[in-house]
Amino acid sequence: MMKTADTIKATREILKAHRDKKIALVPTMGYLHEGHMTLVEEAGKHADFVALSLFVNPLQFGPDEDLDTYPRDLERDLKICEEHGVDFVFHPSVEEMYPKKPELLLNLASMSSILDGIKRPGHFEGVVTVVNKLFNIIEPDFAVFGEKDRQQLMIIKRMVADFNHDLEIIGVPTARETDGLAKSSRNVNLTDIEREEAPAIHQALEIGRDLVQDGETDVEGIKERIEMHIMDHTSGEIDDLQIFTHPDLNTIQTVSTDVIIFIAVKFESVRLIDNMLVIKN
Ligand code: PAJ
Repeated sequence: MMKTADTIKATREILKAHRDKKIALVPTMGYLHEGHMTLVEEAGKHADFVALSLFVNPLQFGPDEDLDTYPRDLERDLKICEEHGVDFVFHPSVEEMYPKKPELLLNLASMSSILDGIKRPGHFEGVVTVVNKLFNIIEPDFAVFGEKDRQQLMIIKRMVADFNHDLEIIGVPTARETDGLAKSSRNVNLTDIEREEAPAIHQALEIGRDLVQDGETDVEGIKERIEMHIMDHTSGEIDDLQIFTHPDLNTIQTVSTDVIIFIAVKFESVRLIDNMLVIKN
């Protein structure tokens, strides 16, 4: 039987009985979809006990972002967890997680000076703060994160190293709809027309990948081609488009190694992100 708790005290009490097992944690903000479930599946490969957290973390949303419209449905999420063999769900309230305005916040150095670190000031500070708390509450042996949020995954790996968390971070490839759109809780907030346009994001990344693999090395030229595809096929606006080296995320003008293409597209009320690792031939 799946257990649930909305307090930290009850969570610690429940987990006490399972400390003989390997525990994996899948942190989420809920409104679960198949992307989250691939994380649960991966968690089950590494651990005998899978815990999942559902918490829309206000600390990681900027003042003009979609905290209020972020989709939520606890009952639906619990049902999905149960169906997928999750052993324990932690679904705290904001008051439970932040009884007081946090006095101590984690800061990032260079890892938040690119991409969403710039576009969403304070976002990653909010993410590492809540994930740090979740690690302290659940004390898992493994924690699973998606490559969909690749910058987040890299930052959390670094946090674990910098703060000596005794656990292993596991990254999972992006789950996509059949038309290529990366699965995301935010997709439900797209209008019907935007939903039809949104697969162009993944197509644009594929165009970038093909150019690199066909020997194109000019970063500006590749970015222009990607931009053109988004402009021609969507009503959205490119909020960010960067090509960095993999895995160091160095800025380049010329492609000479494996790269990651990152993109963020803003629709009317939803900002979608995606990325693609391109192995250079
Ligand atoms: P959320 O957006 O709910 O995502 C939870 C986890 O699911 C993250 O690790 C994310 O990368 C992964 N994920 C989302 N869509 C995916 C997809 N299509 N394929 C594979 N993995 C996918 O990311 C967060 O929540 C929050 O920032 C959190 C880490 C929970 C901290 O609040």
